[in-house]
Amino acid sequence: MQMALLKLSTTPGAGQVQLSWRCSVVAAATTLPFPNYSRSQLGRRRRKGIMRVKCNVNGTPVRATSILVVGATGTLGRQIVRRALDEGYDVRCLVRPRPAPADFLRDWGATVVNADLTKPDSIPATLVGVHTVIDCATGRPEEPIKTVDWEGKVALIQCAKAMGIQKYIFYSIHNCDKHPEVPLMEIKYCTEKFLRDSSLNHIVIRLCGFMQGLIGQYAVPILEEKSVWGTDAPTRIAYMDTQDIARLTFIALRNDKLNGQLLTFAGPRAWTTQEVITLCERLAGQDANVTTVPVSILRLTRQLTRFFEWTNDVADRLAFSEVLTSDTVFSVPMAETYNLLGVDSKDIVTLEKYLQDYFTNILKKLKDLKAQSKQTDIYF
Ligand SMILES: NC(=O)c1ccc[n+]([C@@H]2O[C@H](COP(=O)([O-])OP(=O)(O)OC[C@H]3O[C@@H](n4cnc5c(N)ncnc54)[C@H](OP(=O)(O)O)[C@@H]3O)[C@@H](O)[C@H]2O)c1
Repeated sequence: MQMALLKLSTTPGAGQVQLSWRCSVVAAATTLPFPNYSRSQLGRRRRKGIMRVKCNVNGTPVRATSILVVGATGTLGRQIVRRALDEGYDVRCLVRPRPAPADFLRDWGATVVNADLTKPDSIPATLVGVHTVIDCATGRPEEPIKTVDWEGKVALIQCAKAMGIQKYIFYSIHNCDKHPEVPLMEIKYCTEKFLRDSSLNHIVIRLCGFMQGLIGQYAVPILEEKSVWGTDAPTRIAYMDTQDIARLTFIALRNDKLNGQLLTFAGPRAWTTQEVITLCERLAGQDANVTTVPVSILRLTRQLTRFFEWTNDVADRLAFSEVLTSDTVFSVPMAETYNLLGVDSKDIVTLEKYLQDYFTNILKKLKDLKAQSKQTDIYF
């Protein structure tokens, strides 16, 4: 394996790694060209059983269909896994060792390997025989951002480069370049640059927000008559269904003209928090109990938490309040991207449709449960 060299600047005395996009990877001297098969060619080759194509540096056979999904247990990661399996890829998932194993991934037909991005020694073995890495990982809210999203990703990209991985898909955040004051945004932007400098074949996909996140944030609390948290910020987000993101990702992945490109995926319309709450109220048929947190309070909390080292991670998360005050619109016109990918805008799920399906299903289930409990009453 080639040794990759990482230049990290350190704070004198603090002994901590400082974020710096000046990091670079020394390009591995030998990278193998891999034939660019079309899907039909892939299908033909697979049917003929001749998918063991070119060999890697040390003779390891690599199938063009072998992918490693990092962050496979996450909101987007699991949709990537599902889509990949449906499309006939061999899917390996990098999953942290956990008390409750990620059995659902195995049940779907994926292979699960244990590793942790914060433990670089655990990474190389997961990459053996892998053609494409799809990186959907990000630190969970209770974890320090820098350890996973920066140090972990740097280690992963370096390993990928050193081991001759032939494509790397990285998910970033829309507008990350415009908000260096938000640690996660800055890290995403730095990682984009780090990936570009690594000279790995890659695609960066910037995302705005996930429809799935709105279920826990608004839909469920409204149905359970609990408080939902809103802000008075005018920020708008063009939420997208993660199933659409997965579908578009695989179209992009197969298009070799997109190597090295930066794509942004946004949903059909940008919504304020208040608009999302109003939509949920209408579909649920009940009013929300909204607790509005003024953005000024979020900012103050962030400044206070910055005073104490042990609350720095909380402050990093709250840094999004800076973005919320900036009247940002997390959206982009998608016509050109649809064109590039050959996708029809009509096939992209709208938030109205997504939430309507959710509420229709859940309200039907609740009704069935009530009916069952009535029956039970009679029997008892
Ligand atoms: N959510 C959004 O609205 C949004 C918006 C823009 C961009 N994005 C980007 O989209 C991507 C997917 O986001 P998401 O919301 O689907 O993430 P998520 O649901 O929070 O899932 C994060 C995944 O990363 C894994 N992970 C965390 N730390 C790890 C570590 N040390 N080693 C290995 N795996 C680790 C988690 O595993 P465990 O199950 O073990 O915790 C989980 O599978 C991320 O890059 C995110 O920044 C998300």
